[in-house]
Amino acid sequence: MKICHKIAFLTGLGLVLSGCVPSPTFLNPASSISAHEANLYNIILIMALVVFVLVEICLVWILIRDRKQKGDDDKPPKQIYANTKLEITWTVIPVLLTGVLFAMTFQTMNRVAAPAASATDINVHVIGHQWWWEFVYTDLGFKTANELHIPVGTTVQITLDSIDVIHSFSIPQLSGKTDAVPGQTNHMWLTADQTGVFLGQCAEFCGIEHALMRIKVFVDSQDDFNAWVSNQQKPAAQPQTEEEQEGFKQVTSVCASCHSLNPEEPEKKVGPNLAHLFSRSTFAGATYDLTEDNLRNWLHNTQPMKPGNIMNLKLTPDEIEHILAYLKLLK
Ligand code: CUA
Repeated sequence: MKICHKIAFLTGLGLVLSGCVPSPTFLNPASSISAHEANLYNIILIMALVVFVLVEICLVWILIRDRKQKGDDDKPPKQIYANTKLEITWTVIPVLLTGVLFAMTFQTMNRVAAPAASATDINVHVIGHQWWWEFVYTDLGFKTANELHIPVGTTVQITLDSIDVIHSFSIPQLSGKTDAVPGQTNHMWLTADQTGVFLGQCAEFCGIEHALMRIKVFVDSQDDFNAWVSNQQKPAAQPQTEEEQEGFKQVTSVCASCHSLNPEEPEKKVGPNLAHLFSRSTFAGATYDLTEDNLRNWLHNTQPMKPGNIMNLKLTPDEIEHILAYLKLLK
């Protein structure tokens, strides 16, 4: 296989494995913060490459020039002690380079840590749970989970904390990471430059399902965002058919100890708000697609899908079908 074919094959394989979603790396920035980080990374990479290539060229040149050749006797080569000019050169150049890197890193840190340039339009309170994210739209009056919607070009002020252990909120294409610490409120802001879907992940080890504590950020146009908000603010759908009414009874009795059907949810619940569950594309910490089959498996037994999570129910197949019938109304 020719080298270019190999590269094409590996790239294709990477795309298949990643489900064709662009890689969630800060090197593919969608905000000013990530663009500053990517810029610094690229400058450091180029400087390191230049140094690497120069050093390797010198090394190979010396290895070839001074190799043992025919006619050389076994006496040790000429011994040299010190070369002041050379030693000053190879001390001063790295000092200058690290000085430049220090200055650029300091400048980037200041830019990243600076308050948002534009006015705040939206406040979101982000709460870490083992193992999912709760999003409270404090001025808009509703709660949701795992999937954050924000309007493009608007500064979103985020306050962060946790109800159990330390988590870390990280969406590489949009921001640096900030810890969610129980008993302490941390702050960060987001301003996305382009619409799209951006993936994030809890970035602080927080227990067995740390890897399944993901975040999906939808950066919407202002119109799409307004439409999404007005839907989220609506009360949960009411049951119509007999089956839906059976399901509603289950949800408001069995499920209600951990989940609320009220989008405002003044009472604090340990599980995600269900008022508009089926407006989301994923569940269980944004790890499973929200399909009827996945949700059926989840209601049957959550443990094989996400071992260690606190949702443990013993439901009959009939009860599961009734609950599903009602939950599907929650668009
Ligand atoms: Cu939450 Cu790791």
